[in-house]
Amino acid sequence: MTVPHAWPALSGIAYGGDYNPEQWSRETWDEDVVLMREAGVTLVSVGIFSWALIETAAGEFDFTWLDDLLDLLHTNGIAVDLGTPTASPPAWFFANHPDAQVIDRDGRRMGFGSRGMASHSSPAYREAIVRIADALAARYAQHPAVVLWHVHNEYGVPVGEDYSPHAAVAFRTWLQEKYGTLDALNSAWGTAFWGQHYIDWGHVNPPTIAPSVVNPAQRLDFARFTDHQLRACFIAERDAIRAHATQPITTNFMANQSWTTDLWAWGREVDIVSDDHYLWAADEDAHIGLAIAADLSRSVGGGKPWILMEHSTSAVNWQPRNIAKRRGEMARNSFTHLGRGADGILFFQWRAGRSGAEKFHSAMLPHAGTDSRVFREVTTLGADLGRLDELQGSTVRAEVAILWDFESFWAQDLEWRPTEDVTHAAQVRRFYEQLWRDGITVDFALPGHDLSGYRLVVAPAQYLLSTADAANLTSYVEGGGTLLVSFFSAIVDENDAVHDGGFVAPLRDALGLTVEEFLPLREGESHGLDGAGFDDVIADVWQEDIALEGAEVIARFGGGPGEGEPALTRHRHGAGTGWYVGTRLDAAGMRALLHAVYADAGVAPANLPDGLEVIARHGDDAVYRIAVNHREEDVELGAFGTELLSGTEISGALTITAGGVAVIRTTP
Ligand code: GLA
Repeated sequence: MTVPHAWPALSGIAYGGDYNPEQWSRETWDEDVVLMREAGVTLVSVGIFSWALIETAAGEFDFTWLDDLLDLLHTNGIAVDLGTPTASPPAWFFANHPDAQVIDRDGRRMGFGSRGMASHSSPAYREAIVRIADALAARYAQHPAVVLWHVHNEYGVPVGEDYSPHAAVAFRTWLQEKYGTLDALNSAWGTAFWGQHYIDWGHVNPPTIAPSVVNPAQRLDFARFTDHQLRACFIAERDAIRAHATQPITTNFMANQSWTTDLWAWGREVDIVSDDHYLWAADEDAHIGLAIAADLSRSVGGGKPWILMEHSTSAVNWQPRNIAKRRGEMARNSFTHLGRGADGILFFQWRAGRSGAEKFHSAMLPHAGTDSRVFREVTTLGADLGRLDELQGSTVRAEVAILWDFESFWAQDLEWRPTEDVTHAAQVRRFYEQLWRDGITVDFALPGHDLSGYRLVVAPAQYLLSTADAANLTSYVEGGGTLLVSFFSAIVDENDAVHDGGFVAPLRDALGLTVEEFLPLREGESHGLDGAGFDDVIADVWQEDIALEGAEVIARFGGGPGEGEPALTRHRHGAGTGWYVGTRLDAAGMRALLHAVYADAGVAPANLPDGLEVIARHGDDAVYRIAVNHREEDVELGAFGTELLSGTEISGALTITAGGVAVIRTTP
């Protein structure tokens, strides 16, 4: 069956949230739809945790309440994103199939009374998810309220990995398909080390806890297997829906907040990318982490518009300290997502729940009711988004790509690395943050992608790099690209085995160097650099012995184990340039480095006032600049055109109020 809608049958920017009316009386539903209309809600996600109330016993369905709900929403002009409730199987399912419970790495069996899927490899679970997806799609595919299907909820959390007997059987099958022979597996996993050689497939198991560190190649394959199994569950449900329905099908990702799923592969399976994002309270610049999530969501969807499926109006309830959003912050968050390509802004959830584990989570309609700051801001945001219909379908363009490779991250973050002070997430964030401060929009990409459209490609944490992907990066440089590579990149191949030729060897042509030895620093140790433009820079965590093979030295280590040796290099190769940084630079160092690299790449920083975020979306006939002021004072932005939220014409400059937002349309 073909899919007529690449985008849900909705006009304008979708607005709404998760709606869980089964927790409320029928009278409350009537009040809800009135208030939703007042708030400008156009789309709600329903049924996500409703399995027990839809399939009341195995194969016995009760659709009466859902029939009533969808009719009510449709009558009120509110469209539905219909969930399949497979993230939370009912009590009867686990009573019938106790073997379908997940077992974690420590051997603990996950009990009932919470949420979280069953074993992704349990045949009974696979059968049950297809049965309910099929039943829902058969009943509601033609319902006029339904514009989108929402399979499951956040695959990979709260449980992703499963070490149950069903998973062990499936892992062996997956390995047999991947390797064909035990010899191939023994070789890929390097089982000669510590005497792990296998003679029988039946002896191969998931990498449960063991007396010491478990084979990293085995763990990497288990991460790949887990992703594959979760995706197989999604595909099974998606195909069951597709047999009846023509609406687009999605599942909500967690972009940079969960690492269990390889979103590049998932992006190819969904019709539309949707993402959930929550601010990390401990991060004082959490809006930069938010921007990463949004750019990643757009990138894994190939640049097409996507939906912010969940965020919060104020505090969440699951962090150590749940910080409430202050006035205007919810709108700033929403406009950053919008600016970075989201054509739907949704929340968890519509009405704050009185019972259960999430009663302290904020909502569009808070416990305080409609006479509250949050509800007033929700209503204002709905009205503002309602003025932006013409943005729908416009796209974001980027001249810079940062490599983001889940497989590499899985491998890098295993145990027994040169230092615990280097994590992939922190490395990506450092480079992204400087680009954000320079007002430069970034796509994320895999090292094997066609990168020729980018002026600059940054590899902040590409620990695992296959020879083929290294060749792709090298030809990108040869073709005129600028590549910036950070330490601890190009270290291992796809089996987590050190590259033949040593560290960085696959990129030696592009960078004009290899690395002889890592020289990690003690906790708290830092040293200056020597080099024009870098004399005031402090660097910590990491040094290394770089073996130059033609690269020019831009700065050297001013102290520490690598004193006097190259720290920062530049290498002309073909028509392009390969930069390399062998240490962790402070903020001044990142600024100096990136600005030198921009000059090579022909990338221009936006020179915006500090704390002002501006992103452009390109439509057929207009460019829309979305400005988000993260500062506590007004700022001026040079601009011409129309500010769409207020309808005012701008000729030369626009004041963006403290903590405020603006959307400026310019027509060429
Ligand atoms: C996740 C889930 C939601 C809800 C929110 C709370 O994103 O998908 O069901 O639990 O977290 O922040």
